[in-house]
Amino acid sequence: MSELTPIEWHDDHVSILDQTRLPGQVAHLEARQPQDVADAICSMSIRGAPALGVAASFAAALAAVNARSLDLERARANVDQAIALIRSTRPTARNLFWALERMQACAASARDANELAESLVREALAVQQEDLESCRSIGDFGARLVPEGATILTHCNAGALATAGYGTALGVIRSAHRAGKNIRVLVDETRPLLQGARLTAWELVGEGIPATVIADSAAGWCMQQGMVNLVVVGADRIAANGDAANKIGTYALAVLACQHGIPFYIAAPMSTVDLTLAGGQDIPIEERAAEEVSTIAGTRVTPEGAAIFNPAFDVTPHGLITAIITDRGVCDHPLSESLAKLAS
Ligand code: MRU
Repeated sequence: MSELTPIEWHDDHVSILDQTRLPGQVAHLEARQPQDVADAICSMSIRGAPALGVAASFAAALAAVNARSLDLERARANVDQAIALIRSTRPTARNLFWALERMQACAASARDANELAESLVREALAVQQEDLESCRSIGDFGARLVPEGATILTHCNAGALATAGYGTALGVIRSAHRAGKNIRVLVDETRPLLQGARLTAWELVGEGIPATVIADSAAGWCMQQGMVNLVVVGADRIAANGDAANKIGTYALAVLACQHGIPFYIAAPMSTVDLTLAGGQDIPIEERAAEEVSTIAGTRVTPEGAAIFNPAFDVTPHGLITAIITDRGVCDHPLSESLAKLAS
């Protein structure tokens, strides 16, 4: 089966599937400079924590390739500059910083500019390949938790588009479907940027998985009506105690799932786990532009002068999470202990 890939390395550029245009248009951006990658991240052409990690490592590799003709010191400075630039794009996804740390460590051992370029390209491709394999493992571990005939509710897009391919939460859904389980998916539209309605629904329709889009505000009613058997979502950063940051609205879903006795799973690779942070209160939460809330598809929906607050993520406390499905296995409670064990 041919898989969806949101970002691809070419010898002298990076091709990025422009997610702002989906589902209407399948168009690609060409990034030749780290700045092009930074712009694609800020504009949400590429998004989703693991995909941001891949984009970050490709940006560092581009900087090294573009500096091939320079001496090692200047080539390294080019890479450092790219790393600083990408670090400043979006603050919440741990994978972005994790990937940049890998690239930085790799750059330290090069002996000339050519070797620097070759080793950073190799490392960036490894980040991508490893993420794809991680998603498949998450899918395999998670599919076992999905009962035959289940209806799964998901939020935002934690699919192939948000990763190197296959997806985390959607990886679980894909694997359950491919294993022949007769599942269906309720997709939260995910205001303000509609990643659920635009991206998750597009991926599911493309794969022939039965999917129904609901307004975010319909989730509670659907749970109360017995229409949801489990919730699976992704994560942008998971603290040492298991608190998990994900797209705004995830916390509300976890509270609702708890109220209705519905299992609530987080699916994420270990590269999303940040053991340096004790709890969710330490996770940096991105606040995005007011226009994302005050307009829909370019049309203003709030009156001039209305104040807007647009946090892009929220934190679900570990006590509301049934289990965390990782690429190394399923973490049960106490989450702090099982995360530490899998990380070691
Ligand atoms: O703002 P976004 O679209 O980058 O937010 C994405 C999410 O919240 C995803 O659920 C998360 O990054 C996990 S992606 C596998």
